[in-house]
Amino acid sequence: MTEQKGQLAPANGKLGILLPGMGAVATTLIAGVLAVRKGGGQPIGSLTQMGKLHTAAGNQKIKDFVPLADLENIEFGGWDVYEDNVYQAAVKAAVLDEKLLQSVRPELEAMVPMKAAFDPHYVKNLDGTHVKTYTTKLDLAEQVIADIRNFKAERGCERLVMVWCGSTEIYHESGELHRTLAGFEEGLRTNAANIAPSMVYAYAALKEGVPFVNGAPNLTVDVPALLELAATTQTPVAGKDFKTGQTLMKTIVAPGLSARALGVKGWFSTNILGNRDGLVLDDPDNFKTKEVSKLSVLDSVFHPEENPELYGDMYHKVRINYYPPAGDNKESWDNIDIFGWLGYQMQIKINFLCRDSILAAPLVLDLALFIDLAKRAGMSGIQEWLSFYLKSPQTDANIRPEHDIFKQLVNLHNTLRLLMNEPPVEAATEEEYQDGPAV
Ligand SMILES: NC(=O)c1ccc[n+]([C@@H]2O[C@H](COP(=O)([O-])OP(=O)(O)OC[C@H]3O[C@@H](n4cnc5c(N)ncnc54)[C@H](O)[C@@H]3O)[C@@H](O)[C@H]2O)c1
Repeated sequence: MTEQKGQLAPANGKLGILLPGMGAVATTLIAGVLAVRKGGGQPIGSLTQMGKLHTAAGNQKIKDFVPLADLENIEFGGWDVYEDNVYQAAVKAAVLDEKLLQSVRPELEAMVPMKAAFDPHYVKNLDGTHVKTYTTKLDLAEQVIADIRNFKAERGCERLVMVWCGSTEIYHESGELHRTLAGFEEGLRTNAANIAPSMVYAYAALKEGVPFVNGAPNLTVDVPALLELAATTQTPVAGKDFKTGQTLMKTIVAPGLSARALGVKGWFSTNILGNRDGLVLDDPDNFKTKEVSKLSVLDSVFHPEENPELYGDMYHKVRINYYPPAGDNKESWDNIDIFGWLGYQMQIKINFLCRDSILAAPLVLDLALFIDLAKRAGMSGIQEWLSFYLKSPQTDANIRPEHDIFKQLVNLHNTLRLLMNEPPVEAATEEEYQDGPAV
């Protein structure tokens, strides 16, 4: 076991991972962790389980370097607007094959989502009825708090974290009501329309000191009122939007083009996907939330304001198309118009046939384990070091979000080093990017 340093509390006892939204991503995560526990698969794509970093003792597995909750000590719970148990929801999501699901079927069938805090105004294309009734949004938040407490007691958890895996809500902006905690709580009491369900969950979690991660591009905790609450209860938060698929590719390719000082004239990205997420995003108001999140990526890698001759005229377009036959197997196409020496033009075409939830599940696991680590280390507020996992990283108002995946990785590693009282390393050392043999 890793030696404890400084203020870092050990990962004793069980960690409860609470998931508002038990659809494709959540069920792929849960079934996957159960399968890994039984030796039925490898947690590929998860840094906490398979990643290494360079330490004073050589290259080490991250989980041997920092004290993380063990997969054996995790309990899952959550909420959904559909009452399907996790097995039924996983079958409908059609991500994992029948053989794998059968191997963990009894455990999945025993997991039934709690009734959701839901408002159809925020997600128009869903018609689930497994929802809480309430008088005010404060009453709704109190019901979620009661769920959190019951779950913790019933499952005997030492600590909890919450990761939003619910649908993308419609686009809305931070307003006067979101400015202060007092104003927000008044809004809860008076049923203010611009308090979204995801904010109700976040409020409940933060009130209870439960770290909150936002896996969708929703506004959610990205408002001063909820950050004030996070500060008051000393609770870490992170968001927004899991970085998978096309955006993952973008943040891998773009830093390379920028490193070689190659110009970009245009970047056209289009997707087809046919899962429930795709159905929700078929509504223009819900798509707008996703579009804003996806569009933010390139500017912060290329810095067009500092490099106008290379990126000043770049045209960036992102489309998502709902196409049911594709199911969870999202297919994306990128056409990148680049230019080099003397302005001569070239094109790059990327056709990524990915599996959305297969890419997202390990991110949820890592975010859950790392935000629990942050809490045990006494860290609170926005955890920028988790930007590595997020498409539209939440940052303090005075900090520019970092999108370059390689810089994000260095930030993440350095935070782990600091937690274990080791000095940070400079970006781009050989050790940062290459996994050597574990010692
Ligand atoms: N799969 C990916 O690669 C990926 C990447 C980035 C972000 N995301 C985001 O993660 C989220 C989950 O994705 P998914 O593919 O699992 O979608 P999904 O549609 O399969 O699952 C979302 C679930 O949330 C439920 N839900 C909606 N509102 C709710 C509420 N208020 N309370 C409780 N449950 C609620 C829905 O009924 C649904 O079952 C989406 O917001 C998606 O945009 C996914």
